[in-house]
Amino acid sequence: MENFRFLSPTQIIFGRNAEEQVGNEARKLGQKILLHYGGGSIIRTGLYDKVVKSLRAAGVDYIELGGVKPNPRLSLVQEGIELCRENKVDGILAVGGGSTIDSAKAIGIGVPYAGDVWDFYSGKRLPEETLPVGVVLTLAATGSEASNSSVITNEDGWFKLGLNSNLTRPVFAILNPELTFTLPPYQTASGAADIMAHVMERYFTPTKNVELTDRLCEGVLKTVINNLPLALAQPDDYNARAELMWAGTLAHNDLLSTGRVGDWASHKIEHELSALYDVPHGAGLAVVFPAWMKYVYRHDLDRFVQFAVRVWNVEPDFANPERTAREGIARLSRFFKENGLPTTLPELKIPADRLEEMANKATDYGKKILGQFVKLKTEDVLAIYKLAL
Ligand code: NZQ
Ligand code: ZN
Repeated sequence: MENFRFLSPTQIIFGRNAEEQVGNEARKLGQKILLHYGGGSIIRTGLYDKVVKSLRAAGVDYIELGGVKPNPRLSLVQEGIELCRENKVDGILAVGGGSTIDSAKAIGIGVPYAGDVWDFYSGKRLPEETLPVGVVLTLAATGSEASNSSVITNEDGWFKLGLNSNLTRPVFAILNPELTFTLPPYQTASGAADIMAHVMERYFTPTKNVELTDRLCEGVLKTVINNLPLALAQPDDYNARAELMWAGTLAHNDLLSTGRVGDWASHKIEHELSALYDVPHGAGLAVVFPAWMKYVYRHDLDRFVQFAVRVWNVEPDFANPERTAREGIARLSRFFKENGLPTTLPELKIPADRLEEMANKATDYGKKILGQFVKLKTEDVLAIYKLAL
């Protein structure tokens, strides 16, 4: 096991009607807040009215900015920064999915910074200050509600880049599984694929002797595998939605990475897909992850056999462990497919003509090596895209 520090300061407020507490919680963000949201789902579901009512009852002064797009854009972040400065806003309340939360995080670090907020995403600077961010979550997926990450797309060149900083961990996150009943099936499934990907990025590690976190990872994966079909079959199945929602937070608040090195190549490879083709991040991962696995599994066959046996209940073939490993990967793909997700690039309507460009962008034109479980160069990334065709 590696040495580690673990910080997860976000207060989680979980359960039915939890959003009714948002006014009192939002007071902790300051006198005046920005209410930030997406393309209108919260208005259609009635959540917007509930949040506004609770803010008013608690005497919280707010201004608002909606319109966050999936794969959130830098231009709206910049608009939000200006708006917060002009109105002397103290904190931000994000109501929505990962895109809205990430946009709120970006605005939060952008307001006190004199330079261009993109500096933090391009790796030029690390943020030193932020406005506090609170969350009402409507989609179990990214774990952004308690994570240290924010991912933003710069429309100038369609660069989708992530920033990791503990400063961006939200102060509180309100998680009511009922708020996810209205999700379209494809978003529910994409979210579950993202949750699984966050666990698998950590599971496929070069670190040895990590039994506890291996078992925790396997538990989260099995929970998602059991509950995604239930949530799809009956969208208002509270228990299934609750399991998915809590799995989403635990998959990415870094508990599962304690003492181990994560891989993260698949995320980088996927971000090029959602940057150029605007596909849901989780659907992109359902395509990329099995392809990555096919490319790397021989590197540590034992780990892939363990994954197949413990997560997918594959009967181990002791004479042919490769077969066991491959069956685990096949069952992952089959699971995605059975739950309505794509597993190839053509199913995402992504043609083969820009694979080289994406492989180059993923490695910053050969300057960066991706991954820790296996280190990948541009030509490896290209081979993985080709395996996904
Ligand atoms: O925009 P609105 O109208 O709200 O609709 C959204 C959006 O169209 C809709 N939606 C959300 N909750 C709903 C709902 N529709 C009906 N009922 C509800 N309860 O779902 C659509 C997708 O929302 P979005 O926020 O984009 O999805 P998600 O939560 O999957 O976030 C994806 C973004 O997060 C990034 C991804 O790359 C992507 O940009 N990630 C952020 C991470 C982090 N900060 O820690 C980690 C992840 O690996 C990921 O990269
Ligand atoms: Zn993800």
